Order: sequence, then C-alpha cells, then structure tokens
Amino acid sequence: MKKLIRIVWAFPFVALVAAFALALRRVWPFGKQQVKDAFPNDRVEPYVGKLPDALHTSEDVKNFYNRYTDKFVQVYGKVIQAFRTTDITKLLDYQIESMGLAASATVLDAGCGVGGPAIYFAQKAGVQISALTISDVQAVQMQEAVEQAGLTHAIQVQTGDYHYLDQIYPPETFDTVFFLESFGHAHHPAKVLAGAWKVLKPGGILYIKDLFRKIAPTAVLQEKIDLEITKINAAYRYNISDLYGILHHARKIGFVVMNLKTVDIPLQDFENLTISNDFQELTGVGKIDNWAEYVFPVDFFELKCYKPLHNLDKGLDRYFLQNLFHIQVNNRNPNEL
Ligand SMILES: C[S@@+](CC[C@H](N)C(=O)[O-])C[C@H]1O[C@@H](n2cnc3c(N)ncnc32)[C@H](O)[C@@H]1O
Repeated sequence: MKKLIRIVWAFPFVALVAAFALALRRVWPFGKQQVKDAFPNDRVEPYVGKLPDALHTSEDVKNFYNRYTDKFVQVYGKVIQAFRTTDITKLLDYQIESMGLAASATVLDAGCGVGGPAIYFAQKAGVQISALTISDVQAVQMQEAVEQAGLTHAIQVQTGDYHYLDQIYPPETFDTVFFLESFGHAHHPAKVLAGAWKVLKPGGILYIKDLFRKIAPTAVLQEKIDLEITKINAAYRYNISDLYGILHHARKIGFVVMNLKTVDIPLQDFENLTISNDFQELTGVGKIDNWAEYVFPVDFFELKCYKPLHNLDKGLDRYFLQNLFHIQVNNRNPNEL
C-alpha cells in the first residue's frame, strides 16, 4: 500500500520533469541543430505547391520585348538564349535530339523570339511549327524571316499569350510543346502548364529549357542568390521559376517526368554566358555592379515530360504498366507500342 502511495505521489513530479525536458528540447534541440543547419527548411519540408509571387505581367513582358528585340538581335542573333554554344547550331542540334523532334511532327514553339530555333528545326528536322510570341515586334520580324527562308508552308507565326494556349489552339493538336528560355517569363506557370496539357496530343512531349532558382547550402548564400534573382527578374521582366513548384504542378496535372537534367553541353563548346554581359554592356539592362559580391543565382535545366496515353480518370499509376495493359488487355502487338 505504501509503495502505491509513493508511486501516486511521484507521478506529477515525473510528469513535470518530462514536460520541462520537452520544452527545453524545443528551445535547444541538442544534436538536432546540426542537421537543421546543414539542410535549411526549404529542403527538408515537403513542397506544398506554393510558387513565388509573380512580379511581371504578360503586358510588361510584351513591352520589354517590343522595346529591346532589336538590341537582343544585335547581340544574340536570331537565337535569344543565354545558355548556349559558341556555334549556335550545336545547341539547336542538341535540342532537336533532346526533344526527339521527328519529321512531320506538329510542334508548338511557345515563346518563339524572332524565329532562329523554329526556322532551324523546320529545315533540319522537317517539323511543322506553330510559333507564338507575346511581342508583335518579334512576330513581324519572324514572319519576314520565315518568308525569306521559304518556310511559310512549315511555320505559322502568331502573336499571343502562352497563358491561354487552350484558347489559341484546338485541343490535342501538338506532338511536342516546347519553351526555350521563355517559360520563366510566366506570371502563372501552373496555368501555362495546364494549357500545354490541353493542346498536347496524348503521348505528346512537353519540353522546357530554362533557368531555375539555385538552392544554396547556407542561408547566407541563399540570401545573396535571392537578391540576384530579384535583380534578374526586374531587369528582364522574368519570374524565375522554382524548380520544385514547376515539377509539382506538372505532375499534379498528370504529366509524367521523363527526365530533368543540366544542359549537357561540353565545356569547350559552351559560350560561358559572356553574351549576357555583352547585352548588359549595350543596354545597361541587368548590369552587375559588384562582381566581387556576385553569386551566380540560377541553374539551367531541361525538363522533359510526356502526357500519358491513357485517360487519367482510369488510374494514375497505369503508365508504369501501360505497355503491359495494351498488350494484355487491348491485345496490341508490342511492335505497335
Ligand atoms: C528569351 S526569349 C527566347 C526566344 C526563343 N525561344 C529563342 O530561343 O530564341 C523569350 C521569349 O518568350 C516570349 N514570351 C514571354 N512571355 C510570353 C507569353 N506570355 N506568351 C508568349 N510568349 C511569351 C517572348 O516574347 C520571347 O519571344
């Protein structure tokens, strides 16, 4: 009996000590702290789909390109991509290969610039291209270039906003929809992806080559990176994408990620981004004031996804077994798949 009384008396004391220890652990989490420092919050917390607030509207982007296209062409030529090879055909050949552009495929060049890539792809890969730009100045220049190249049968140029792809093109029109350093201008990337989904044929390819916010191992570096990102966004009317946000939205819509990789250009072919400096010198746009403090703030990636052939209502996981399904349930010949 005495023993029982002692236990009953001791209980509140033990509970008090435990509560105190728990509270202390929150303020001073012992060994846990090291792990937290090594992996800042945004890397350990699961991504929930929030994208950074967009800074620039399509109207801003349109005015920017209407004003600066001539200067871009003066520095970049007809391919307005910063991550590039010195011999630009090497980059374009690489992109044909990466996207898997095949003769007579119907493709959408979303954010086509003045048409350097589209003209090359039509000539080299024999694809049929719908080209869309937000800038009417670019559309006029591109149309002239298409006519000069004798490619009016292969390339249709149009002015329009890629946030409304499903209002511009009929559903399930394209084998491939690609964005070459154009996606990052989007103020509502999830909407752009949803539109791309609608205009792609089942089995079609979505390809995005762009710059994405770098994620740093320390908070101090991340702050510097984010400062540079703010400057690039302001200078180029960009809304540099968050990689995880884009992946999240693409997958939520139903796209299957085929690969995500750095643009594999051999170092000796790579232009080293000096072209961006030349543009900055010429225009004053995005000029870097302090190279000593400068941190390169982005990674260039190519993201390739496909729109599954099957109806998503019938099950999300079927793409793993899609071939088996067609062979076993639909009695298709494996060679047809
Ligand atoms: C850096 S340039 C890239 C041009 C082209 N892809 C190339 O490789 O030469 C970005 C392009 O995206 C286009 N763009 C940006 N926002 C757009 C929008 N909302 N709708 C359509 N095009 C857009 C611009 O008009 C411009 O042509």
